[in-house]
Amino acid sequence: MPETKQDKVRYVTLEESGIAPQQLVPLYMEAYADMPEYGEPSPEDALRYLQWLKDHHTLFEIALDEKGKPIGFVVADANWFSRFGRGGHIHEWVVHPVYRHKGIGKKLFDDAVEHLRQFHDRIILWAGEHNDRARRFYEQYGFHPEGRYKQWVRWVLELQKPPK
Ligand SMILES: CC(C)(COP(=O)(O)OP(=O)(O)OC[C@H]1O[C@@H](n2cnc3c(N)ncnc32)[C@H](O)[C@@H]1OP(=O)(O)O)[C@@H](O)C(=O)NCCC(=O)NCCS
Repeated sequence: MPETKQDKVRYVTLEESGIAPQQLVPLYMEAYADMPEYGEPSPEDALRYLQWLKDHHTLFEIALDEKGKPIGFVVADANWFSRFGRGGHIHEWVVHPVYRHKGIGKKLFDDAVEHLRQFHDRIILWAGEHNDRARRFYEQYGFHPEGRYKQWVRWVLELQKPPK
């Protein structure tokens, strides 16, 4: 396993990093390699999706290792509107398999929640119905399942309003 320590990881926005969507394709494909049913089917589809994410975010935060290589990212969108109502959306969240379980994913996720909290009092994301790790993580975080579409479950986090 690479020696990358959590304190050597840098967190930058897509805009600050100058990274192009195609540079994130290998990371994205490897992140879903063990759950291909929930990822894009091919690198070409992944590129289209990443370009879509580039056009639909208010926070696109990337974790870089000490050499500046992208090892994870989160994409949050405070402007997304769907028929399920308004709410801040987390569109995507991945960490490369060899860098997992070091807190990098949690840091990215927390930053996305803090970003969306400025605009919304609820956060929405979709996860694969058989993604048990996702279910445990979102339940512990305070999300509850609120609906389904095909093989996807919609998870919602109601944020506490600060007391007046
Ligand atoms: C989800 C993911 C980004 C977590 O990255 P990470 O760097 O390992 O996260 P952390 O080290 O901060 O760990 C936080 C917790 O994430 C949870 N987790 C693991 N896989 C998860 C998943 N697919 N979805 C949600 N949470 C997950 C675990 O509870 C983990 O705790 P653990 O290390 O004790 O197992 C990473 O597992 C991943 O890229 N998975 C594949 C893509 C994916 O499923 N994204 C979410 C789509 S809904």
